[in-house]
Amino acid sequence: MREAILLVGGQGTRLRPLTINTPKPMLPVAGVPFTVHQIMRARDAGITRIVLATSYRADVFASFIADSDLGIEVVIATEEVPLGTGGAIRFASGFLTGDSEDPVVIFNGDVLTGVDIDALITSHESHCADVTLYLTRVADPRAYGLVPTSPEGRVLQFLEKPQTPEEIVTDQINAGCYVFTRSVIDSIPEGRPVSVEREIFPVLLAADRAVMGVVDSGYWLDLGQPMDFVAGSVDLVLGNAPSPAVTSPGESLILTGTTIEASANICGGTTIGKGTKVGSNSEVRASVVFDSASIGSNVSITNSIIGQGAMIGDSCVIADSVVGDFAQIGAGNELRNGARVWVNAELDELVVRFSSDK
Ligand code: GDD
Ligand code: MG
Repeated sequence: MREAILLVGGQGTRLRPLTINTPKPMLPVAGVPFTVHQIMRARDAGITRIVLATSYRADVFASFIADSDLGIEVVIATEEVPLGTGGAIRFASGFLTGDSEDPVVIFNGDVLTGVDIDALITSHESHCADVTLYLTRVADPRAYGLVPTSPEGRVLQFLEKPQTPEEIVTDQINAGCYVFTRSVIDSIPEGRPVSVEREIFPVLLAADRAVMGVVDSGYWLDLGQPMDFVAGSVDLVLGNAPSPAVTSPGESLILTGTTIEASANICGGTTIGKGTKVGSNSEVRASVVFDSASIGSNVSITNSIIGQGAMIGDSCVIADSVVGDFAQIGAGNELRNGARVWVNAELDELVVRFSSDK
């Protein structure tokens, strides 16, 4: 039996207002909650049992899992107070059944990747490592955990979200998937918040434990910010990112019960959620529209997220923006450059316009 822990208890603050009603891993990405893509990838890598480490809006996970059969045993562990990434791993380990020498795979709940999980476990075992980190290279590593390694793949340092230019010592980052030997999880302090990145990795390195890094150059994206969330969904729909939950990639993904006028153009990897309506001459490009939304006529939506039940009036322009669940945007408004409209907010007609003198 191979077991894993999926960390899904964060508040998803950077994705607000989308995460007010729905925790980040339960937001729909290419038609299913993001967590389904991850659970199915774990299943396909031979993991037979996965513990969801929940905290924020744990109820949403519980009811979804109760109604789903994902072909893998899913167990829900819920922290009464958020315990941080390390505390969550420690708490969730109480729901594991393996022995102290068994490998346990741990996933951050917002990372889209094609990494070979089986190869990561094999590497961990062949090095007799305490922990093996999956690493990737990014152009701007500042928002991540920096992980320089030796030529043999030994982790030299772990610098979470560096604050100064001197700390930017590498473009290799923690890609949010680890293999821990179970006994190492048992050494994480119990019953208090612990950060695996800020506390546990530095402690293991200071004790000269065998912490290894495996650098992979395949697809990788953290969906924790709106534009990355859109990009991840688009890549899944187009088939540029791998997932067993996307069986037939294409130009767009249109779910059931939608009403889309023939003159509307749904393109660039857009997903249109269940029961959503799109009016005539509207274009929805490279975007994610959740269920039961209503989009008027002559609307242009690009690189944006439209929340559940939101209403977009005629002739609106929405680019690189987020509209919260059940918000109502009156006709003729223009939202651009990272605008975020809150859940249930109402914008009258022609309230927000951009300068038209070009
Ligand atoms: N159960 C539980 N409890 N889960 C939590 C908690 C908690 O208290 N806090 C955070 N999580 C979960 C989040 O739901 C998410 O899936 C994961 O832990 C990581 O949290 P993020 O908030 O997404 O962290 P990040 O993106 O800033 O940074 C992390 O991921 C980067 C890669 O995407 C770090 O691990 C970085 O080192 C890493 O580079
Ligand atoms: Mg993240």
